[in-house]
Amino acid sequence: MSSDSSRARAGEENERLPLILGFQRIAENTASETRFIERGQGIYVYDTDGREYIEATATFYVASLGYQHPELIDAIMAQYRELPFFVSALNRTSKRSLDLAERLVQMVPVPDAHILFASTGSEANDFLVKLLRFQAVARDQPQRVTIIGREGSYHGGTLASASLTGAHHEEFGLPLPGFRHVSQPDYHGSRAPGETTQAFARRLAQELDDLIRREPPNSVAAFFAEPISFSAGFKTPPAEYFPAIAAVLDQHDVSFVVDEVITGGGRTGAFFGCETYDLKPTHITLAKAITSGYFPLSAIVIGRELYADLERGSAAVGTLAHAATYAAHPVGAAAALKVLEIIERDQLVAHAALMGEHLARGLRAYADHPLVGEVRTQGLGGALDFLLRDEDDRPSNDAASAEATCLAVHSVLFAAGVVTRAAGRSLIFAPPLIIQASEIDEICARLGRSLDLVLARRR
Ligand SMILES: Cc1ncc(COP(=O)(O)O)c(C=O)c1O
Repeated sequence: MSSDSSRARAGEENERLPLILGFQRIAENTASETRFIERGQGIYVYDTDGREYIEATATFYVASLGYQHPELIDAIMAQYRELPFFVSALNRTSKRSLDLAERLVQMVPVPDAHILFASTGSEANDFLVKLLRFQAVARDQPQRVTIIGREGSYHGGTLASASLTGAHHEEFGLPLPGFRHVSQPDYHGSRAPGETTQAFARRLAQELDDLIRREPPNSVAAFFAEPISFSAGFKTPPAEYFPAIAAVLDQHDVSFVVDEVITGGGRTGAFFGCETYDLKPTHITLAKAITSGYFPLSAIVIGRELYADLERGSAAVGTLAHAATYAAHPVGAAAALKVLEIIERDQLVAHAALMGEHLARGLRAYADHPLVGEVRTQGLGGALDFLLRDEDDRPSNDAASAEATCLAVHSVLFAAGVVTRAAGRSLIFAPPLIIQASEIDEICARLGRSLDLVLARRR
């Protein structure tokens, strides 16, 4: 569809498109406000006006192998020709789904894991919350259903995963009962002046402990966290944070669920964010990069005790009354198996870690730019934070003005053909794992020009 035909079809200017797009004003669902992407190649996508964009966040942290990976497309086509669809239920599944489950249990940092597949990250988190409720009943502890998430974290769009998400509750009448939230480890934004990372981590762990103690006894089932929350603005946790949190969870016998929907698949310098931060999760959720987005597939990595309770509980009830038609889709399984093969064979985790060092150098070159408050990097990911701190370690602009700067830089950079993500005060970079050093240089050069342009407009 050319831009002319798409615009003519939708009518000019403000006529609404016949589809609703996510995370924007509904009134902006117009042809003039929307870019129509029609093809992609490597780290680039092209719109119907022929404009080229560098997908510097791998299109919502998904397209880890970039666009048009020929081998991945071949593997998907081969699976379509062999078995294009099957359901995993009632004592039948596809061989390809089993192959993927076997592969994943060998890789995941959860001992004796079992895998339940789903289609999206939201479903993976939602289904896991549901399984934790099944576990509570099977253990004859039906009160143990409360789930704790963190402010600013995003876990999905279904009712349970949106409740677990730490934002945008009021407008949907959420959260559902039984969801609580604690602070994000936003050391740059919310530390007291001069507060050490150790004292900060202790304070956040104490907040979690206080919350659990305020709840009825033995009522908290699980704590969900991403190793790094991208939606909260790539707030890389201080080294002391997760050990302090894990100690509180252990003390109260609360499961630790690590949402690796974004971080899983080589983003953080290791295959799993759990490895990067030495986390010992009870369960993990995975999605996005495991198929590089070429097919919707997600996975719930289920730990030993939950599995045992599922087995016992389903024996008592006669079934585990849960399934999803497209879960464990053989085409998705074939895609994920090929992605894992390519990542291993081409040593893409090591390549991404190396490219991450290059990206970190490129971003850190702007650490002293007058608009930039902090540069954070980890693996092949990084962010510029526009909250400034003065010599007394006090914020010297407020969150609203930092967010406005972030949006301004994002939009100038977008116009310059680099797609990043503005998450609150922070501008995020997380390109495909296949990116090369020269392409990172190009992103960073355009970033520098965009920062200078936004600064010049202010003066
Ligand atoms: C950390 C995290 N968890 C879960 C989800 C939900 O995944 P999906 O959009 O595939 O439902 C997202 C989506 O961005 C995410 O970032």
